[in-house]
Amino acid sequence: METNKITIAIDGYSSCGKSTLAKELARSLDYVFIDSGAMYRAVTLYALNTNCIIKGEVDEKSLIEALNDIDLQFELNPRTKTPEIILNGLNAEGQIRTPRVAEVVSKVATIKEVREKLVFEQRKMGSQGGIVMDGRDIGSVVFPNAELKLFITASNEIRIDRRYKELLRKGIETTREEVKNNLEQRDFIDSTREESPLIQTEDAIVLDNSELNREEQLAKALQLVNDLINV
Ligand code: DC
Repeated sequence: METNKITIAIDGYSSCGKSTLAKELARSLDYVFIDSGAMYRAVTLYALNTNCIIKGEVDEKSLIEALNDIDLQFELNPRTKTPEIILNGLNAEGQIRTPRVAEVVSKVATIKEVREKLVFEQRKMGSQGGIVMDGRDIGSVVFPNAELKLFITASNEIRIDRRYKELLRKGIETTREEVKNNLEQRDFIDSTREESPLIQTEDAIVLDNSELNREEQLAKALQLVNDLINV
């Protein structure tokens, strides 16, 4: 029997474990998981590949004109059971995680028209409930009526360490200093931009995972979901 499937919004700064939690939560609940950051990254990749970004400068006018040519879908990877982003028919999951994209994605995410397009798509994906979406504006803009809003935090050192190791695992060459600079720059742009900046909404529950492992973090979140569903 179908139970009451809720909408779960997960927000927070870069590299604080939002996507990991969202993915595991969705798997445990048999919900859909959407990494909204992947959508901003895919638009950025498209912009890079079509020369709408040159030497870190975004040609906003050209990118806005090209937005209708960008088709984004998610497809489940049968091996990892995780949705991967498909940009105009091609799997872009690997390419969107590279420093080339990370360096400029926050700038692209400040563009109002980009946000409008992606928020529209995100709301469509979540129209039936039963979704866990992570990002920066999910609880504030995309799903302001989400039944559960989590705001994830972790100490800066831990965030830098996690992202650095993740990039190394993927064979991407970088240094801790580069990772630190990129995170600081993205945090700044994401939380000070004019269009739907990252904020902690009043009704969000803060989850600091600096001292939690993945299992403990998931258990806490699942407890919050159960408290809501079994009222
Ligand atoms: O979660 P992430 O690091 O993959 O996100 C990449 C960038 O996209 C991030 O710097 C901010 C932006 N973003 C956003 O503005 N709104 C979202 N809902 C998700 C991501």
